[in-house]
Amino acid sequence: MTRTLIRGGLVVTAADETHADVLIEDGRIAALAAHGSAYGESWTADRTIDATGKYVIPGGVDAHTHMELPFGGTFASDTFETGTRAAAWGGTTTIVDFAVQTQGEALRAGLDAWYAKADANCAIDYAFHMIVSDVTEASLKELDLLVAEGITSFKLFMAYPGVFYSDDGQILRAMQRSAGNGGLIMMHAENGIAIDVLVQQALAEGRTDPRHHGEVRKVLLEAEATHRAIQLARVAGAPLYVVHVSAEEAVAELARARDQGLPVFGETCPQYLFLSTDNLAEPDFEGAKYVCSTPLRPAEHQAALWRGLRTDDLQVVSTDHCPFCFAGQKELGRGDFSRIPNGLPGVENRMDLLHQAVVDGHISRRRWIEIACAAPARMFGLYPRKGTIAPGADADVVVYDPHAEQVLSAETHHMNVDYSAYEGRRVTGRVETVLSRGEPVITEGEFTGRAGHGLYVPRGTCQYLN
Ligand code: URP
Ligand code: ZN
Ligand code: ZN
Ligand code: ZN
Repeated sequence: MTRTLIRGGLVVTAADETHADVLIEDGRIAALAAHGSAYGESWTADRTIDATGKYVIPGGVDAHTHMELPFGGTFASDTFETGTRAAAWGGTTTIVDFAVQTQGEALRAGLDAWYAKADANCAIDYAFHMIVSDVTEASLKELDLLVAEGITSFKLFMAYPGVFYSDDGQILRAMQRSAGNGGLIMMHAENGIAIDVLVQQALAEGRTDPRHHGEVRKVLLEAEATHRAIQLARVAGAPLYVVHVSAEEAVAELARARDQGLPVFGETCPQYLFLSTDNLAEPDFEGAKYVCSTPLRPAEHQAALWRGLRTDDLQVVSTDHCPFCFAGQKELGRGDFSRIPNGLPGVENRMDLLHQAVVDGHISRRRWIEIACAAPARMFGLYPRKGTIAPGADADVVVYDPHAEQVLSAETHHMNVDYSAYEGRRVTGRVETVLSRGEPVITEGEFTGRAGHGLYVPRGTCQYLN
């Protein structure tokens, strides 16, 4: 039996901040004791980590990643090996990645392919949602089996016609099914049919630069789709989770639904909190680095997102990590923004950027841990095994130095992508040591983990319902 002791830090969870010593036995949190108490002082361990002056926080739970996603004629550039290693460096110890159903294929086939991609490659624990691209009688039946197997959430798309798109009838049927089986429908809420018309018109008029990606994917078309998704969920009697919310008007739709007591949830991502259409407008095709969907918005929208995170109209911040290199991948869209593969890197940056939000006064320390660790774990049936520091929980623990200064850069990051969306940004706070089920995967800034340490975690259903 291996025993690890983390002494003297400020243990921060979504619920509490306490000066406590943390005892870890066999990969789990065994006990907490008031720092300096005779009880804690009596503990002995094989390894003791001095966390004096540091935070001791649960490992991050990133509930939205796309390792190796086939998209836009190429593949997201992080594999499960490189992407989970980078996540560990950034203090994230669990990812929930999206397995993909290819149109015309069974969900089972897509899911099995995802198990195979991740198996023996991950540095940290992982779970899956499933992208449903083909809502048919057969795939609806499969939803029940997947929920029973621990895949309890399904992403549908109102965007990307011809790729992942589902029409309203398909969406309604999937929601009805999830109302019966405990699954949670996750929605990419943008009116893709209307957007595609605007894309064709923009290209025909010679408006081909990356910034036009943001202009055609209008706020109104995100708000409209968010509203429609909420109404369809009401009709079906199903809960709803809206992914990558970027627009103030979409937050307003969520807030209104929640004020009515509906089980409607929302996620935003660091790119919408820290970046804007100014980035999309960067010259010399540099704007392509910031092409994702939903798109970056004018900076005025950020205040509504921060507010939503404080008022709990938005519950989760995940990254939507979907990296494509500038060279050779983003460049596919030179002269035609619609061919730029959509997605941004960020799995390594989320915990630090959100800590910066604490420093900047947008959120409290406990809310940082809630939106980055506890709420995603609860939302997707992983709590309290993941997302907190409590007796019995997996010992996924980060020792975080809240005073260290760092500059985010592609030169120093570990994601397999040739640029950083946050190049040159100074942040206060840095991951020092990361334990995954008690094993040190990052030790004072060095990677000490291994591919294959990370285990697949089957999930329960959403813990915000009933
Ligand atoms: O641009 C994005 N978000 N790429 C990943 C796929 C998705 O829609 O989440
Ligand atoms: Zn103390
Ligand atoms: Zn999406
Ligand atoms: Zn995504």
